[in-house]
Amino acid sequence: MTKNIAIIRGDGIGPEIMAEAISVLNRIAEKFGHTFNYTEAPMGGEAIDKFEDPLPQSSLDTCLNSDSVLLSAVGGPKWDSVPKEKRPERGLLRLRAGMELYANIRPAQLFDELRDASPLKPSIVDKGIDFVVVRELIGGAYFGEHRTEKLDGEYYAQDIMAYSEHEIERIAHVAFQTAQKRRKAVCSVDKANVLDSSKLWRKVVTKVAESYPDVTLSHMYVDNCAMQLVKDPSQFDVIVTENLFGDILSDEASMITGSIGMIPSSSLGDGTRGLYEPIHGSAPDIAGTDTANPIGMILSAAMMLRYSFDMSKEADAVEKAVDSALKAGFRTVDAMSEGKTRLGCRAMGKTICDMI
Ligand code: IPM
Ligand code: MG
Repeated sequence: MTKNIAIIRGDGIGPEIMAEAISVLNRIAEKFGHTFNYTEAPMGGEAIDKFEDPLPQSSLDTCLNSDSVLLSAVGGPKWDSVPKEKRPERGLLRLRAGMELYANIRPAQLFDELRDASPLKPSIVDKGIDFVVVRELIGGAYFGEHRTEKLDGEYYAQDIMAYSEHEIERIAHVAFQTAQKRRKAVCSVDKANVLDSSKLWRKVVTKVAESYPDVTLSHMYVDNCAMQLVKDPSQFDVIVTENLFGDILSDEASMITGSIGMIPSSSLGDGTRGLYEPIHGSAPDIAGTDTANPIGMILSAAMMLRYSFDMSKEADAVEKAVDSALKAGFRTVDAMSEGKTRLGCRAMGKTICDMI
């Protein structure tokens, strides 16, 4: 098969980890007889430097004309002082909206090999951590009206958190369908004791649940969910929630697995084209030092093979190679523990390629 992949190299450690993911994809292409064509689509800080725009139209067009998009991570202190509309994050939000990627899937999984890395007590971790956060990605406070104005001599700012029924419905379907392929339990997280948008959220999710009689639905307030995630994460299978709650809870979810450098994510809309990225940031403090962990990026490429290209054998091959590298005791510095062999970013990428 021939696939055209848009590549957003990103900022900070982005280019380093992307290079390793591309080597892995090239190894897969060679082994399974595919052709992968890559086109760069600058976004974030790189695009601000080159085009004074965090998402130039040409980059959005490249992404829209591709079979799928791979992204490392964008942003860094260098662009902290640019106006809001020009910030790297704006590029990412415009890309999500421009590609209509309303469903963000963030798995939280404890790698057997990395149990010690979880900050939770063994008695909690031993019950297992294996759930998915399904985060609504192009609605809520991120995309409602933002306004800052001076009223009666002081500044006043607002961000409107709004949802329409169809926006809730479509993300609920994604959550139930995700659960059907897993342990068949959806926990919908909201703040329905306070917010109107959450009351509507709860009502619509409950209605959509009627079409999935094989899946159990429960509801939880977001503050309680934040607590339950550290108290007993084993209770969760699929968490579905709105954009801002999902942003916060998915960081918490990744932390408890102890392997933020290893977790991939996907953002999907109605078609098969998606945006795949590791959940970690651009880590500008270690950029250029060959110490970054490329695994989250490599597993994002595997997710792309599986979900956008329907190449499950190929995705399995990548995931198995990552597993073998970890089982053989290879670690980047973020995941180092006693008795393991420390590798740099490039060496980790090469080891995984060799194991495919
Ligand atoms: C994420 C990030 C983004 C978000 C930022 C960079 C805009 O935190 O992907 O979770 O808030 O969605
Ligand atoms: Mg976030």
